[in-house]
Amino acid sequence: MSRDDPAVSARSSSGAWTRSVRAQFPILVQTVNGHPLDYLDTAATAQKPECVIEAERQFYTRLNAGVHRGTHTLAMRSTLAYEKARARVAHLVGADGREGHEEIVITPGCTAALNLLATSIGYASLDCRQGRCRPDAASRDGRGDPARFALHPGDEIVVSQAEHHSVLLPFQELAARTGASLRWFGTDSEGRIRSDTADTVIARKTRIVAVTLVSNVTGAITDVAPIIERAHEVGALVVLDLCQAVPHMPIDVKKLGCDFAVWSGHKMYGPTGVGYLYGRRELLEALPPAWFGGEMVDLAYLDRPAVYEQPPLRFEAGTQPVAQAVANGVAAQWLENLDLEKIAAHERAITAELLKIADIPGIRVLGPLTADRRVATVSFEVEGVHPHDVGQYLDTLGIAVRTGHHCAQPIHRRFGVEASSRASAGVYTTVEEARRFVEAVKGIRPYFLGTRD
Ligand SMILES: Cc1ncc(COP(=O)(O)O)c(C=O)c1O
Repeated sequence: MSRDDPAVSARSSSGAWTRSVRAQFPILVQTVNGHPLDYLDTAATAQKPECVIEAERQFYTRLNAGVHRGTHTLAMRSTLAYEKARARVAHLVGADGREGHEEIVITPGCTAALNLLATSIGYASLDCRQGRCRPDAASRDGRGDPARFALHPGDEIVVSQAEHHSVLLPFQELAARTGASLRWFGTDSEGRIRSDTADTVIARKTRIVAVTLVSNVTGAITDVAPIIERAHEVGALVVLDLCQAVPHMPIDVKKLGCDFAVWSGHKMYGPTGVGYLYGRRELLEALPPAWFGGEMVDLAYLDRPAVYEQPPLRFEAGTQPVAQAVANGVAAQWLENLDLEKIAAHERAITAELLKIADIPGIRVLGPLTADRRVATVSFEVEGVHPHDVGQYLDTLGIAVRTGHHCAQPIHRRFGVEASSRASAGVYTTVEEARRFVEAVKGIRPYFLGTRD
């Protein structure tokens, strides 16, 4: 291990790698309530490196124009930048980014990507039920059959107890509207999705399985291989939520073997307002559109059905989040250049520090207690103190954590609580910050309850 290794660098607390990464984040150089900002809310949204901020500024100062529309030079340049950014994001996750084979749909966010997918499947189901399941409704040349997405009463959609509401709710609504039923994976005592139960949870009637690769509450990494294998055995499609995974570890959607995947730009050090739907190309070709409007249509008539564009444009109705997508292409490149293996090693060392709160009397960590097979997202309960009070107390010390249910109520109920506090680190988090957080947590119960156990 060299001194430049991020794990060594994180342990030795002021390593060159950590320092050089952190120096790229202007927002971190400030004090909050008289203390240096200790930003431990990266799972909610990551801070942005200078290169991403500058890319968005450069887009507006030099390139701004609608994409895939005009023939003037600026419009062509912005289209080029937009498509280059799509290809960079495809490369980051191992998807196909070649022109004419694109597997990445650009959306306004992860939640938007999930709703787009669930609505498209709902439309395919409705069309088929009404006897108008037209292959041409999906694509110009009738490639692929949307009937393969159609859900029927008695079919099953499988999610998990650890899902973010943005996975749970669109698929719960889809089930309700199609007569399918919703089933779910339970979690073990550490909040890990019970993939060992795949053979029983996923059954012959299962058509869709939507699960998260990394929980935004427990930080646990799901063992998705048995889930995907079993889903494909019964002919079900697998949707992976990669929101909390893409910024923290190398991801290859082909190696994972999922059919669809979703994630957001703002959690991977990019801008807000942009997200992604990955779909295997032949699936995107067969999937009907769910949003309608400009640029997603090839031929529109008053007296007969429209003929839609090929993917990915078929799913990108209206003016796209161009500046955000372009800047997020820079974020994708930046992550690749930093090396996601190094990032993961750095964050493992930070996780080990954060988890030391589990040794403090009255603190319960909701999630795995060791740094392996998890990311640096640590939710915790402080016995006798409301999470909002925990958050405010830490804020007075300049430490930013998230409090509440983190848009994941079922997993909180599984732990017997309605809400928790959550510290989540990123590539810029230093070991000193993690230690400062642990010291601060030691003071919470004495402050509120006067106890010194
Ligand atoms: C695991 C997970 N999935 C989905 C989402 C939704 O992402 P967004 O709010 O960016 O659409 C989040 C956001 O917190 C998340 O953590």
